[in-house]
Amino acid sequence: MTMLSRMGEPIVVNVALGARAYDIVIGRGVLASLGTRVAALKPDAKAAIVTDESVSRYHLKAAEASLASANISSTSVIVPPGEGSKSIASFERVCDALIAAKIERGDLVIALGGGVVGDLAGFAAASVRRGLDYVQVPTTLLAQVDSSVGGKTGINSRHGKNLIGAFHQPILVITDTALLDTLPAREFRAGYAEVAKYGLLGDAAFFSWLEANWKDIFAGGPAREHAIATSCRMKAAFVVRDEGETGDRALLNLGHTFGHAFEASAGFSNRLLHGEAVALGMVMAFSFCARRGLIPVAEAERVERHLAAVGLPTHLSDVSGGLPGIDRLMELMEQDKKVKRGKLTFILVRAIGQAFVAPDVSAADVRAFLAEKI
Ligand SMILES: NC(=O)c1ccc[n+]([C@@H]2O[C@H](COP(=O)([O-])OP(=O)(O)OC[C@H]3O[C@@H](n4cnc5c(N)ncnc54)[C@H](O)[C@@H]3O)[C@@H](O)[C@H]2O)c1
Ligand SMILES: [Zn+2]
Repeated sequence: MTMLSRMGEPIVVNVALGARAYDIVIGRGVLASLGTRVAALKPDAKAAIVTDESVSRYHLKAAEASLASANISSTSVIVPPGEGSKSIASFERVCDALIAAKIERGDLVIALGGGVVGDLAGFAAASVRRGLDYVQVPTTLLAQVDSSVGGKTGINSRHGKNLIGAFHQPILVITDTALLDTLPAREFRAGYAEVAKYGLLGDAAFFSWLEANWKDIFAGGPAREHAIATSCRMKAAFVVRDEGETGDRALLNLGHTFGHAFEASAGFSNRLLHGEAVALGMVMAFSFCARRGLIPVAEAERVERHLAAVGLPTHLSDVSGGLPGIDRLMELMEQDKKVKRGKLTFILVRAIGQAFVAPDVSAADVRAFLAEKI
């Protein structure tokens, strides 16, 4: 397929949003170029790095050193790791720290971490002084292929996930694939589900390539950069077509309607990570499509085989502690999607790589399908 990047030569994906366009710079070791790239975009800026305790242990020094080498002074704000940091309390702490560090419109916020840090720091950047520039330095596979691109920022409310937030695009994304070498294997696998999702929703050739090359992606070979760049290109294309998420950006939710219900029923806990729930959700979505005669059963089995091969959960029985009954799962899906006259909106497929929005899936069909699966 596409040419692989040579070591040391980053792949640059542009998110073409006119005045708000930005580059995603992807490669092994590109964190070292953070300082010079920031200095080129914002001469004389000072920076505040927002990160979490785990990421800071491994990667904060390198980020600070890169900034210092370009004469950019920086302070850091370190939050506890985990979803709990997407809270009003952490948001307040980060905003106060940015204000105390005198980060102003000419300055910069740097989000160094996974999706939690990216969402939290991005929202603080969107809010303090009505909008500060920020740079994403994603450190999980999920953040590198998904949350660092597209400008969705936010925190959780007691009423649900991501209910408080803003669209605020970064000015630069530095995606250093070597940072993933310290990521726990389970987190890496969970992020991989989102990589596979891009193939499954829109690029059959990419999915075939993943089936052949996934081991090299996990091992940190050149396939890793290619997989991340391909994912970012696809996400960027959706974001450019549909920045405010009113139209076909919804296709990115393949596997997520089932997935969110599983995730919520496991209490958004360590029992089932987001990407694991998405893997399970995609297997369900393909199996649901096979049941409706949209795709051959063998196609659904192929998806399941690949996700199982990398070690992702593909059966409801793979979830430790089990899942609740059908009534609760249906309730969660209906909450998520708002049922209109007994109809749910789902992302379905005509084939691997050909997803579409189906606004009229009957809740009764979904219930009957789940009854077979449980
Ligand atoms: N904004 C968006 O468009 C978008 C899209 C998808 C998901 N999200 C959000 O992203 C969040 C999940 O992100 P995540 O999966 O990256 O989780 P995360 O940020 O919690 O990171 C997972 C764990 O890995 C640790 N970690 C991160 N990088 C590491 C590294 N390089 N080495 C060692 N440990 C490391 C973290 O400390 C954390 O414990 C959710 O809150 C979700 O809502 C946002
Ligand atoms: Zn997702």
